[in-house]
Order: sequence, then C-alpha cells, then structure tokens
Amino acid sequence: MPPDRATTRIPVIIDTDPGVDDIIAILLAIASPELDILAYSISYGNTDIESSWSNIFKAYRAIDLHLKSNPSEKARFPNFDVKRKPLLARGPSGPLEGALHSAEYFHGRDGLGDIDIRHPELSLEAPLDTHSYFQLSSQSGAGIALDILRSYPARSVTYIALGPLTNLALMMRENNVPGNTSPVAEFNFFADPYAVKELLLSTPLHRGLPLDRFLMLPLDITTPHELPFNIYRKEVDPMFENTNTPSSAKAKSPLTHFTSSFLERTREIMLQFGKDALELHDIVAVWCAIENPPLLDTEPMSLAQGWKGARREFQIERTGEITRGMLITDRREDEMAYPLGTNRSEAQRDPNENHHHIGYPVSNKANGVVCDELSGVLCIDGTPGPAKLLKFLLHRVWGRVFG
Ligand SMILES: *[C@@H]1O[C@H](CO)[C@@H](O)[C@H](O)[C@H]1NC(C)=O
Repeated sequence: MPPDRATTRIPVIIDTDPGVDDIIAILLAIASPELDILAYSISYGNTDIESSWSNIFKAYRAIDLHLKSNPSEKARFPNFDVKRKPLLARGPSGPLEGALHSAEYFHGRDGLGDIDIRHPELSLEAPLDTHSYFQLSSQSGAGIALDILRSYPARSVTYIALGPLTNLALMMRENNVPGNTSPVAEFNFFADPYAVKELLLSTPLHRGLPLDRFLMLPLDITTPHELPFNIYRKEVDPMFENTNTPSSAKAKSPLTHFTSSFLERTREIMLQFGKDALELHDIVAVWCAIENPPLLDTEPMSLAQGWKGARREFQIERTGEITRGMLITDRREDEMAYPLGTNRSEAQRDPNENHHHIGYPVSNKANGVVCDELSGVLCIDGTPGPAKLLKFLLHRVWGRVFG
C-alpha cells in the first residue's frame, strides 16, 4: 500500500458491520471526494459477519449498475474507481468476550431490511471469492488496518468505526499503540463493552488507546439527525411506500431501487417506534470524518466550524442485565456537585441553587475549539446541525438539490 497514493484526500479505513445506516454512510463516503477509502474491515454487529460481508458487495453493485445506466454521473462517486479498489478484509465475528448480540430486530436477518427475501433480484449468490470492486485480502481486518497505519505518515489516516470496537481493540492487542490513527467512532457500546473498556478506559495497569485525537459521537448527538421518509419520498423516490408495496426496479435508478428496497422495511420499524424517519447515526460519523481531517501532532486539537466537543470520563457497564454497554459517570467529585453532608432536600429548594445534577454540564467551549484537557474521551456535543446533514446527504448520495 504505497503512501504516494495519498493525495489531498483523507485516507480512511472504514470498520463496519453494514446494516441499514452503515450502508447509507458507506454510500456517502463513496460519494465524497474529500475521502480516499483505502480499506474496509467487515465485522459482526447489526447482523452476523457473513451477511455483513455480502451487504457491502450489494452497495457497490448498486452503484455499479447505477453508473452503467447513468454514465454521466461517474464523477459523483469518486471512491468508485476500478483503478483504485479498496482492500476488503474480514474483521471479528464476535465480541472480545461474552455472547454475541446483534440488532437483527431492527436491521433484518440479513442486516438490510430482509432485502434478500423481499427483493431476490438484489441478493448475491454466495460465496463471493473474487470481485471487481475490491482487493480481497486474506489478512484479518486488524492486520490490514495495522499495515496501512504503518505505511502512511503519522497522523494521516482516519479510522472510521461504524460498528462495535472489537477490531480496534484487536489492533491494540497486536500492536500496542496505533499512534498514527485519528479515529472517529459512532458505536453501539452494547455489542462489545469489553472492547470499549480496553480501548477507552486506561488504568494504572492497562493503557488504552491514545485518546488525544479520538472523537466519539454519542447517540444523543447522532439521533436528532434524520432523513424523514416523506422527504425521501419527495426528493428521491416518489413511489417509496412501505412493505406492502415493495420497490420496483423498473421505474427508478438502480441505486434508488437498492436504497428504497431496504428503507421500506426500516420505515415500518421506525413507525412502530413512533418516528417516520431514519436516524442517521453512522452517517454523522462519516460526515464528521469528512469535515475534521487528521491533525498533526504539532497542531492543537480543534474541530471544524460548527462542531463542538468536551472530554468526558466514564466507566462502562459490561455485565449488566439491563444496562450492558451503559456509560457511567461518577459525578460525586464534579466541581458542580454538592459538598459532602449537604441536605439535598434543602439545597434543591433553594432558588439560588446553582448546582446541576441532571444531564451533563453544557459545553461552553468556543465554537470549533476544544481546550487541551488531558483526560477522558472527546465526545462531540454539537454538530453543524441536522438540516445541513440532510441537505448534504441528499445531494451526495442521490444527486438531489434540496432546501
Ligand atoms: C433535610 O431537610 C429536610 C427539609 O428541610 C428536613 O425535613 C430533614 O430532616 C433534613 N434532613 C437532615 C438529615 O437534616
């Protein structure tokens, strides 16, 4: 993997368990000229690794078919280039410890809204050993990622973790410090809380990942970013409905047929949750990676315009019956905590009370700049906003000018 391949584009490794929002995030990455996708490490997560593996092929095939019927749109997908095929490797098939938990209730048995059953024309004949979209690697996902990090200059590669952090933890085990990576993560801590503990929580006996350039996108920040299905219908696919009227390949582009074919089931499930929109979790992570290129060691940590963050220290629940994957912050020693011995019933009645015990303190950092606190995980607590992402996503992936 020659470093001379690098251009002004940000070299990225994408660690993913391609389910519904991962696939849209991957489509966004492929459509983004700021990124140079070097490799994918495919893992378990939303579904099992075999389904994950075939889903990424489906996404690339959809773009391939789209470009065959719309050759003039080639420039819209700068990372779909047969001359620069990304590496594709298998990552872990389960967490570091404990039982495998997946999210098939949401993403479908195959991770893509049961697309295989509902749309046999979009399924793939397994197993695929050779393919024209990727350079298949016989190495592990951790192996290819470490090779890439070693062959690129320090601090030049962004590692985008869209799935459980197991692969990143395996990399740490193999090569104590992948010190030249700039990870961006949106993750389901639930899937592998052991990996989170190993990576993000240093103890005197165990040093985790160097966290100075690590960005985490918690769910409370990604959740308000949505693709409302009425906007998808209006802008992308006027025939988009739901599982009762499955997408038909006939009257639409292959890419739109592909996305509608898995989003139609996602919509049914989101409606049961009371929301007529897709939450853009993984998409926010890719957007963050696009807008926040890696910084050199000599540059102070800062975030692009519109992004805000603060460092948080936490513990993670690993074995809880109900709270597995939950982050626990001990706030007894916060500067805003009550002094020991305070009568809280009294204190909470005091209108001049200025201690806050509900929710995190609001970040008052200057826009885009993060101060140089040393410990904790840098958690993004502000983005340029859901409206900006919606417009950006519709334009990049489906070529729609919206808003
Ligand atoms: C705390 O304050 C409440 C309300 O004034 C009072 O009823 C209670 O006895 C106090 N508790 C202690 C331990 O002093």
